[in-house]
Amino acid sequence: MKKEGKRSRIAGIGMNMPSKILSNADLEKLVDTSDEWIVTRTGIKERRIAEEGMTASKLAVPAVLEAIRNGGIAAEDIDLIICATSTPDMTYPSTACFIQSEIGAGDCPAFDISAACSGFVYGLTIADKFIKTGSARNAIVIGSELNSRLVDWDDRSTCVLFGDGAAAVVLSASDGQSGIMESMIFADGSYSDMLTAGHGSANPAKSGADPKSHCIKMKGNQLFKVAVKSMADVAGELLKRNGLTADDVKLVIPHQANVRIINAVAKAMGVSDGKIYVNVHRYGNTSAATIPIAMYEAWAEGRLKKGDIALLVAFGGGLTWGATLLRW
Ligand code: UT7
Repeated sequence: MKKEGKRSRIAGIGMNMPSKILSNADLEKLVDTSDEWIVTRTGIKERRIAEEGMTASKLAVPAVLEAIRNGGIAAEDIDLIICATSTPDMTYPSTACFIQSEIGAGDCPAFDISAACSGFVYGLTIADKFIKTGSARNAIVIGSELNSRLVDWDDRSTCVLFGDGAAAVVLSASDGQSGIMESMIFADGSYSDMLTAGHGSANPAKSGADPKSHCIKMKGNQLFKVAVKSMADVAGELLKRNGLTADDVKLVIPHQANVRIINAVAKAMGVSDGKIYVNVHRYGNTSAATIPIAMYEAWAEGRLKKGDIALLVAFGGGLTWGATLLRW
C-alpha cells in the first residue's frame, strides 16, 4: 500500500465527557478556595468528573465510535490506533489495545503515548508520518484522561485545575488540499520536576506507601512562564516555516490549562481574541484531551469550515510542547 505524497486529513471527530459536573461552588466545600479566585486566576468555572469504575479506554470508546461514524469509515478500515493519555487504564496492556478490542478494529498496531498535555499533538505528528509514508490509510488519534484519579483533593493549588474527558479523530490519507501541513514537537527533560504524577519504577505503588504519592505535583508559577514562551515560539516558528502569518489562521486551538496562559499566547502571537478557541471555563484542564475536545466543539459550532487553516498548540509535563498546522 506504499503511496507517498499523501496528506492526512481529519476525516472524523468525536467527543465524550462524563456527565457529572464539579463546580467551583462544589470545590469551595472541599478546600479553602473561592469561585472568585479560581475564575480570576484560571478562567475555570466547572469541570467534569468520571464516575467510579470509569477508565480512560471506556471514556474514549464513544468518542472513537462517533469519529469513525462521521469519518465514514468502518472499524476494520483502521490501520493504527494511538491513545495519548497520562491516566491509562493500567501500565499494560495499553489503553489503545483496550479501545481496539472494544471497537473491533482487527489487529492494527495500537499503543499509548506519554507526553502529558502535549500528547494529542505528539499523536497527530506520529500518525501523520504513518500516513505520509504509506504505512496507514486511516489512523485514530485519541486524547483520553481521568485526571480526577491523579488529583490530590486536599491540594487547592492543583485540584481546582483539572478535569476528565475524551475526544478522538480519524486521520485519513487524502489527495486534496485539506490536511496536516506540518507538525513540530519538542521536549526538555531538564524541566521534568515542574510537573509530575503517577506511579512507576521510581515510585512503585505498594501497601503502606503515602496514599498521595501518585498525585499531581506542580510548580505552577514557573510552568506558567515556560508554557507561554514555548507555545508562542513554536506557533510562530511553524507559521514562518510554512510562509504564513497569524492573519492567515482562522482559528488557534491552544491547550486549555488556564485562560491567562491562552490570552498571553494570543498576545505574543498577535492574534485577536475572536481567533483563539477557549472552553477551559467548562472543562478545566483535561491534559491530552483538551485540544481534540476544543477542536470538536469549534467544528460543532461551525467555527471550522472546509479550507480554514487551524493551528493547534500544546504544552505539558516533560516538559513537552508542540504545534500542528492544518487545513480543515
Ligand atoms: O497543563 C499543564 C500545564 N499547566 C500549567 O501550565 C499550569 C500553569 N500555572 C498556572 O496556571 C498558575 O500558576 C496557577 C493557576 C497554578 C496558579 O496561579 P498563580 O496566579 O500563579 O497563583 P500562585 O501560585 O502565585 O498563588 C497565589 C496565591 C498563593 O497565596 P499567597 O502565597 O500569595 O498567600 C496561593 O497559596 O493564591 C493561593 N492559592 C489559592 N487561593 C485560593 C493557590 N491556589 C488557590 C486556590 N484558591 N485554589
